[in-house]
Amino acid sequence: MAIPHIELNDGHSIPQLGYGVFKVPPTDTERAVSEAFELGYRHIDTAAIYGNEEGVGAAISRSGLAREDLFITTKLWNDRHDGDDPDAAIAESLDKLGLAQVDLYLVHWPTPAHDNYVHAWEKLIELRDAGLTRSIGVSNFLVPHLERIVAETQVVPAVDQIELHPAHMQVDIADWAAAHDVRIEAWGPLGQGKYDLFGTAPVADASAAHGKTPAQVVLRWHIQHGNIVFPKSVQRARLEENLDIFDFELSDAEIDAIDALDPADGSGRVSAHPDEVN
Ligand SMILES: NC(=O)c1ccc[n+]([C@@H]2O[C@H](COP(=O)([O-])OP(=O)(O)OC[C@H]3O[C@@H](n4cnc5c(N)ncnc54)[C@H](OP(=O)(O)O)[C@@H]3O)[C@@H](O)[C@H]2O)c1
Repeated sequence: MAIPHIELNDGHSIPQLGYGVFKVPPTDTERAVSEAFELGYRHIDTAAIYGNEEGVGAAISRSGLAREDLFITTKLWNDRHDGDDPDAAIAESLDKLGLAQVDLYLVHWPTPAHDNYVHAWEKLIELRDAGLTRSIGVSNFLVPHLERIVAETQVVPAVDQIELHPAHMQVDIADWAAAHDVRIEAWGPLGQGKYDLFGTAPVADASAAHGKTPAQVVLRWHIQHGNIVFPKSVQRARLEENLDIFDFELSDAEIDAIDALDPADGSGRVSAHPDEVN
């Protein structure tokens, strides 16, 4: 079944399901991304810091797929916010990817202790205007960071890519994003395997009811919430499984039961707090 597209606030669109390559070893990336393309993935989420943009680029060049059929995201790393360094950073990423333009470029973390994320955002606006990226967005930005870049530049990001899974829904950011026409990209959509999400009753019950795996139930939950997701796997069978989520629908009651897994006090976070990454 076809992967739905989500419209961004700048008029471009993004496949709602993609393949994220965090922790895909550089030596394995060309194989894994090539398999993802064979299976039907067209949206790849990488980052300079992942060290595997060259492997993504090799898979793109070998795929024979038309550039306009692909959606490629990469990210500006934390130590490259200052001065004109973002210009050099995107040039390096484009060179590794073998592309003239990415589809989406993100400020990877706000690094608030350095107080340079507004400058980094201004540079991304310039990079978009220069045609090096089609859309721009941010990642790991909390509501105060979002408020500040919009107040200081009047440019609203197309997306905020944040840690989001059933135990950590970040409803405050999701509500802000909905009110400002910003799409949410959910990283760690399966909780990075760091807690027993698949063994919880709401996920296990929906899995049994629909004849789908727990991972498929969780990914379907994201899709029905409108989140953009790109689960990571290095296993072809799982890449196939994660794509096969468009032939069933969770009921409102099933969605509500999975939502209730969030303790709503932030304690479900499995990775770093954005204010502490500097
Ligand atoms: N912006 C940011 O700061 C940030 C941070 C983290 C991640 N991300 C992005 O988000 C993407 C996804 O997040 P993530 O990789 O951290 O975590 P994730 O997708 O939630 O979880 C990946 C883990 O789940 C396993 N897995 C995948 N499919 C499965 C399935 N069907 N059944 C059971 N286990 C499965 C994988 O193992 P195997 O590989 O062994 O299958 C891996 O251990 C990343 O690749 C990256 O693109 C962004």
